[in-house]
Amino acid sequence: MRICFVCLGNICRSPTAEAIFRSLAEREGLDVTIDSAGTGDWHVGESPDERSTRAAASRGYRLTGRARQFRAADFERFDLVVAMDASNREALLRMAPDDVARAKVRLFRSFDPDSGPDAGVPDPYYGDEDGFDHVIEICEAASRGLIAALRQGTFA
Ligand code: 4NP
Repeated sequence: MRICFVCLGNICRSPTAEAIFRSLAEREGLDVTIDSAGTGDWHVGESPDERSTRAAASRGYRLTGRARQFRAADFERFDLVVAMDASNREALLRMAPDDVARAKVRLFRSFDPDSGPDAGVPDPYYGDEDGFDHVIEICEAASRGLIAALRQGTFA
């Protein structure tokens, strides 16, 4: 199973989701390939935001990689394309070349049984440190839900 997590800048939410999901999936012994990307190009080539890196490190997760922009060709490289919020989902659906690609796009929090079907991961970029901690908690809950869905062979 190849999964790409997608936010806007690929420096806050999606690298956080990538690191947390990778950590939990490895702990569960799941065979997954994980990446992240952004729908925008402003931060291409940058390391993850320091505030995200700090918040993640305090919970034992290490953010890796450099920001890159999601491309239409990525739909062929991944089985699942997991959007952090509705706006990123819409951008991905506009970019999707066909129905097969469109069917790969999911909202991350839709896998969390305790959150609403349309809930997004709030963008922490212009907020305070608490927002970055909140992203971690959201990503942990959604990752647990996604792992359960993969184990059951169902995509909520
Ligand atoms: P991300 O956060 O989408 O979670 O990586 C953002 C990073 C940068 C910007 C917005 C959101 N920005 O406007 O530059």
